[in-house]
Amino acid sequence: MTTPDWAPPGIDLDVPSPARVYDYLLGGAHNFAVDREFAERVTAVIPTIATAARTNRAFVQRAVTFMAEQGIDQFLDLGSGIPTVGHVHEIAQALIPRARVLYVDHDLIAVTHSELILKDTPTADVINADLRNPKDILASPRLAGLLDLSRPIGLLLASVLPFVPDRDNPLAAVAELRNAAAPGSFIALTHVIPEGDGDTTRKAAGLYQNAADSMAVRTREEVTAFFGDWELVEPGLTWTPQWRPRRPEQAGNGESSLALAGVAIKK
Ligand SMILES: C[S@@+](CC[C@H](N)C(=O)[O-])C[C@H]1O[C@@H](n2cnc3c(N)ncnc32)[C@H](O)[C@@H]1O
Repeated sequence: MTTPDWAPPGIDLDVPSPARVYDYLLGGAHNFAVDREFAERVTAVIPTIATAARTNRAFVQRAVTFMAEQGIDQFLDLGSGIPTVGHVHEIAQALIPRARVLYVDHDLIAVTHSELILKDTPTADVINADLRNPKDILASPRLAGLLDLSRPIGLLLASVLPFVPDRDNPLAAVAELRNAAAPGSFIALTHVIPEGDGDTTRKAAGLYQNAADSMAVRTREEVTAFFGDWELVEPGLTWTPQWRPRRPEQAGNGESSLALAGVAIKK
């Protein structure tokens, strides 16, 4: 297969990448045949997967708006993905024009495409880093150049923790990020769970065993643990579309989102 000119050298065109599969499910153009075929296989098991992806993305936008309304003007978006409509910095800056965002991803396409989009935006940057190494992220000069960790920050962990297996200790990684954040900071996260039609979710997770990052399905209790001692804001940990829907009818059938969403504050 030939590599398109927008793709950086060194990417593997034979293994589906969760970032590119997610991009395809959202209707984006930065994906390859291997990703599209994989997405179709997941869709055969979970016909609502594309809706779930859009629901997840819509939550990110509501959570960023919520945090900006609380005065948060700096964000660390972990596992930020391939930029898609409504980037975090655009949403935040619509409310707080000086808002700053550091995007973090370990997928080359996600990072390269973000660099392209952000090249004329001094208030946002992207680094190629792995959530499993929070020390590297926190010590990044690009982070220091953009964010002030002595002030409250918005940590975003949307649909990324499922791609960090327990053996890589995601709880410790997230705890390290929480510890680095000042009081008044928020954390927003989404995570697939085995509740509702959990059998289906597990089947999809089985397919991801052959992708670049495997997928862990965690229980409600396990997802809650990522918030540590931070206080969940109303309405707590809910099905993703039920977290502060813009209109009540958007809350829809929560279970079809396959994932829980929540936002918590460091007191
Ligand atoms: C499903 S996408 C979610 C994108 C975005 N957060 C959103 O919710 O719209 C998951 C992203 O997490 C990234 N990712 C997975 N494991 C990661 C890790 N260990 N470190 C950094 N990024 C990771 C993938 O490359 C992908 O871009």
